[in-house]
Amino acid sequence: MSFNRVGVIGAGQMGAGIAQVFAVSGTPVRLFDVSGEAVEKGVAGIAKFLGRSVAKERMTQEDADAAVARIEGTTDLAAFADCDLVVEAIVENLEIKKQVFGTLKSVLGKDAILASNTSSISITELAASTDRPDRFIGMHFMNPVPLMKLVEVIRGLATSDETYAKVHAASEAVGKIPVVANDYPGFVSNRILMPMINEAITCVMEGVAEPENIDQIMKLGMNHPMGPLALADLVGLDTCLAIMEVLHRDLGDSKYRPSPLLRKMVAAGYLGRKSGKGFYDYA
Ligand code: CAA
Ligand code: NAD
Repeated sequence: MSFNRVGVIGAGQMGAGIAQVFAVSGTPVRLFDVSGEAVEKGVAGIAKFLGRSVAKERMTQEDADAAVARIEGTTDLAAFADCDLVVEAIVENLEIKKQVFGTLKSVLGKDAILASNTSSISITELAASTDRPDRFIGMHFMNPVPLMKLVEVIRGLATSDETYAKVHAASEAVGKIPVVANDYPGFVSNRILMPMINEAITCVMEGVAEPENIDQIMKLGMNHPMGPLALADLVGLDTCLAIMEVLHRDLGDSKYRPSPLLRKMVAAGYLGRKSGKGFYDYA
């Protein structure tokens, strides 16, 4: 199953990656962000990634150009009226996501499926804020989207079997492996990953080891492809904090308390790769 036209809301690292995989698989995409600059940055990132694939002879220049041409940037959500799947990938904030879903009510076609790439927020609650809880689902791509095989598909309480089947098939059609999870805070991926990252940050705070050594220990000792602090920088420390806050609040267990150092770094604007500084420097 593939969709005729996919809309992606948010042209940040995840939204751009999601737009890229659909466009490469042959689907026309509309890519929205709040400013023209953010849209342009997202599309430029996609063109750069595909340019590298051409240089490495993994794809032809013609195919790369065709994929980029399938992506139409926009700052107007009304452009999503003809999309039959819309994937939301904006900041990890319940109220902001609900606001955008509110605007979509007057825009989306009756049968369109709305998916959220949220890392942790309740799919059931997001769905309830829309006019289509049965056609709402979690479609959780992993970062970096073009390189990671998994799509964690999260069924809300009202998600219909038909919606699930279509999104499962669409994930496979873009070369991913969908794995289903039920709707609990952080689902499976971040219920397990984020407490590990949070603990690594607490290790930095307590001086257990230097960041480089913590990452080396987890890479060499556990065969993780990246250390937890480098991974936190990749994900974005603001997103890590938002996820820990959801786990802490919604599971109500103090074991999910966000590390004070994580809070401090986010307050300082040290967000990881996207701000140029996190546990490492990316200047
Ligand atoms: N964006 C784009 N391309 C990237 C990239 C990135 N962030 N990181 C690496 N690449 C490219 C490299 O440029 C390289 O390209 P070439 O082959 O053209 O040179 C290629 O990927 C391989 O890179 P590396 O040589 O560094 O190879 P690697 O074996 O280290 O693979 C990786 C890179 C796949 C990112 C690997 O390090 C990895 O799997 N890291 C862990 C990623 C992970 O855990 N992701 C999940 C994050 S959590 C999440 O997504 C959920 C959430 O809600 C927070
Ligand atoms: P990001 O900060 O890179 O990008 C977020 C984008 O959303 C920005 O371009 C911003 O301009 C845009 N945005 C902000 N407010 C908006 C609004 N009101 N309307 C439309 N766009 C708005 O964030 P990201 O890392 O791409 O994360 C996006 C979503 O994907 C979050 O829900 C996050 O939890 C989830 N996610 C992130 C990762 C990760 O590793 N970063 C992995 C899986 C899922």
